Amino acid sequence: MLVTSPNASMETETFITVGAALLLLLSLRWIVYQRFPLLVLPRTSFSALFKSAIDIPPEVLSRQIIDTSKKGPVVRIGTNEVVITDNSLVRSLYASFSKWPEWYESPEDKLFYGQLSLFGMTHPKEHSARRRILSNVFSKSLRNSPHVKNVTREILLGRMIREAEIPSGSSVVRNVRPVHEAFDMDFLTAFAFTPTFSTNFLNDSDEFNQFCSWVRELRGGSPDAGKSAKCNLENWCLEMCRAYRAASLLPTHQTISHCTAEALYSAGLQEREVAAEILDHLITAKKNLAVVHTYSVYMLSIYTDVQERIREELRSLSLDTLSIDGLDSLPFFNAVVSEIMRTHTEVKALTPRQVPDAGYLIPQHITGQSTFLPAGTVVSSTREALHSNADIFPQPLCFWPERWMGSSESVNHKLAGKIQPQELRNHLWYFGSGTYGCVAREYALYEIKMLLAATYMEFSTIVVDCPKGIVYDERQVLFPPAEVPVRFQKVV
Ligand SMILES: *[C@@H]1O[C@H](CO)[C@@H](O)[C@H](O)[C@H]1NC(C)=O
Ligand SMILES: *[C@@H]1O[C@H](CO)[C@@H](O)[C@H](O)[C@H]1NC(C)=O
Repeated sequence: MLVTSPNASMETETFITVGAALLLLLSLRWIVYQRFPLLVLPRTSFSALFKSAIDIPPEVLSRQIIDTSKKGPVVRIGTNEVVITDNSLVRSLYASFSKWPEWYESPEDKLFYGQLSLFGMTHPKEHSARRRILSNVFSKSLRNSPHVKNVTREILLGRMIREAEIPSGSSVVRNVRPVHEAFDMDFLTAFAFTPTFSTNFLNDSDEFNQFCSWVRELRGGSPDAGKSAKCNLENWCLEMCRAYRAASLLPTHQTISHCTAEALYSAGLQEREVAAEILDHLITAKKNLAVVHTYSVYMLSIYTDVQERIREELRSLSLDTLSIDGLDSLPFFNAVVSEIMRTHTEVKALTPRQVPDAGYLIPQHITGQSTFLPAGTVVSSTREALHSNADIFPQPLCFWPERWMGSSESVNHKLAGKIQPQELRNHLWYFGSGTYGCVAREYALYEIKMLLAATYMEFSTIVVDCPKGIVYDERQVLFPPAEVPVRFQKVV
């Protein structure tokens, strides 16, 4: 007799029920993941599922990103925001995504003279037309231009180095940050308008302090103070533009290549458009470039072994004929510059782009599973996240220029990476990449290298308040405090 026991039939039923439930769950899961493909990604916090990351303080977000990126190169930071920390993926995304999210655009009342400058031009056509003009101004050939040679001779060698007038054998203490800001402005206004029409902040502290207070109020003052500061800055820059313009219309004037005002006027821009573009460069440089100079001097003032080695290498060059081509032939000097750029990550801003209408499928070999980014997803990266990838830069929190030096020095060192220095350079994302990467990178590199070289050819530096007796074993990455008093001594 074949009788199924009631038990067995119950078992079958249970089995079927559980199976059906499981199937339902699986299909639900499948539907949810189809609908919300970002759910598969590691996330910075639980609240990232429901909120935008806009309000998270950049340094907190940055830390969260670095921690989470250990789980994968695409990290979810908000409802529809992800951060990418894989170098090749970042480069290909930034090359192909050209749209910025709307909230990233400058509000009308923030614009100088009511005009957009390159940085705020999010419309691709407008952006590429302006970018073309500026790419020529800031192109690599600036390093051999007679105009830039004049700027270097007058501002860097003349005002910054020689006028420091420190007699041999004695030394002076300087708070370097404001000196670097003043230098930065003099150098950049000389580049934009020729030395004749440049600021003279290095030698005129009243004017410089006035300028600094305007910039401070523009950023963080009360609404009224902000408005009046903006107006003062606009008038100040417009005056420089007009002075240059008047001179450039004289019959004796010759075309000057790599001079910003010259290029913008020649392209047919209106006075206010020229002024808006240049004022934007000045304010950005005051913030970004000066801190790199200060960071460099701070690091070399603490790691005096690195400083000594740089100076040794620089002995083969002379200040009067200093050129960037000469500097490019010095391996250790360039290794130090690369390491400075890798470790200097003070600017933590995300640089968001929007995924276009078709969405984007991240290839499986990058994330281990294919990941679909739906249209409108906001994608960003930070150079801090890219530069602290321990697979590429072992012990990323160690300031170790030798990692850029090639096998002879680093191959047996415990901090040596798996990647050859030549390829390592592809992992530096200091200036961003793609059509919205920093247009002035050649200019910035020129200024950073030339100032660093000239400073250490003439002076030796130590940090005044350096706690005595501390030996920084692995040369940690350190960030300068707001005030950085440094003792300069003339090298004999
Ligand atoms: C460079 O400076 C010299 C001397 O001041 C001047 O005669 C020359 O025209 C300048 N050249 C450029 C390209 O600005
Ligand atoms: C710097 O300022 C001093 C005094 O204000 C002045 O005598 C000197 O000529 C100035 N130097 C330059 C290069 O402007």
